[in-house]
Amino acid sequence: MTVFEVIKKRYSCRAYIDKPVEQDKLDQIFEAAREAPSAKNLQDWRFVVVTDKKIKQQVAGCTNHQDTFGQAGAIITACSVCKDTMKCGQQIAPIDVSISLEHIALMATELDLATCWIGSFDAEKVKQVLAIPKDIAIIELMALGYPEKGSRQTTREPVKNTVCYDKWQF
Ligand SMILES: Cc1cc2nc3c(=O)[nH]c(=O)nc-3n(C[C@H](O)[C@H](O)[C@H](O)COP(=O)(O)O)c2cc1C
Repeated sequence: MTVFEVIKKRYSCRAYIDKPVEQDKLDQIFEAAREAPSAKNLQDWRFVVVTDKKIKQQVAGCTNHQDTFGQAGAIITACSVCKDTMKCGQQIAPIDVSISLEHIALMATELDLATCWIGSFDAEKVKQVLAIPKDIAIIELMALGYPEKGSRQTTREPVKNTVCYDKWQF
């Protein structure tokens, strides 16, 4: 598959079969995450990968009525150890971690796995479940696993609605 084919194939999967993700696939996925760019090459992402059934369900229970993510082979809790803000005014942590998470999503897609970003969750509760220190930011969760049959259902804006050239023309 080309990168473009993988991008087109990725979708947010909300139904998973009860099958663990093999360690060699997890290794490949986190190797892909490792290759992500980051501000000042800080590589500030830290991933807590939950595969234990009981802990997975506890983490899924910290989401906003999305307990079914507990069926996925793994739930990745993506954190950052960076508190810095860039000169442009944007925080480094969510940007760096999000790039590496999308590497994870695309690598998983190539391996016939599926993912879903999860932003609707109670970070303080997840910290308690996973013993994550208070001063560490949890940026997102991501479900990862073997999908029930599915494909992208969502549509996208035409490029002309989101891209202009030379000057702001929206
Ligand atoms: C930052 C972020 C947070 C998201 N949070 C959730 C979530 O909590 N639950 C969920 O089911 N999907 C979540 N999604 C998935 C989006 O709903 C999905 O990407 C969007 O509808 C486009 O669909 P697609 O990913 O299938 O192309 C999130 C996506 C992003 C990027």
